[in-house]
Amino acid sequence: MPGIRMVDVAEDVFVLGLEWVNRKSVQVLLPGVSEVMEAQDSDATDGVGPDCCEDAVLAEFSVEQDDLLSMIGVEIAKMHITDIIHGDLTTSNMMLCRGEKDLVLIDFGLAYYSLLVEDKVVDL
Ligand SMILES: Nc1ncnc2c1ncn2[C@@H]1O[C@H](COP(=O)(O)OP(=O)(O)O)[C@@H](O)[C@H]1O
Ligand SMILES: [Mg+2]
Repeated sequence: MPGIRMVDVAEDVFVLGLEWVNRKSVQVLLPGVSEVMEAQDSDATDGVGPDCCEDAVLAEFSVEQDDLLSMIGVEIAKMHITDIIHGDLTTSNMMLCRGEKDLVLIDFGLAYYSLLVEDKVVDL
């Protein structure tokens, strides 16, 4: 998760300010993205065009597809071990930085705390 920069709890509004992570969405790094990207505008994919091949993008990040999948598993395990359920666990909510072997999960708007294994399974 990005670093927490600010929390403001008013009577009926809760505002959470998070660190801006300068990373690429995992959505554009895994196969099947071209169809998704054609349906989205280029802003949402941070400048990687629809002609882009996932292998080339992965190479640019110096990461193999299998490694990326392992990193996703590690981050999800770290979150679930603390009983946090993400609630919207898609590749568009996972960010990877060039040359870094860690992944950041974002978009915790639907997240909640649960001890139930079933809730973790649904997250997956
Ligand atoms: N902390 C952050 N650092 C960098 N980019 C972010 C951050 N939070 C969100 N974004 C960007 O904004 C997009 C939308 O934010 P997100 O929190 O996923 O909201 P939603 O998917 O509900 O619209 C993300 O896909 C990502 O590109
Ligand atoms: Mg999102």
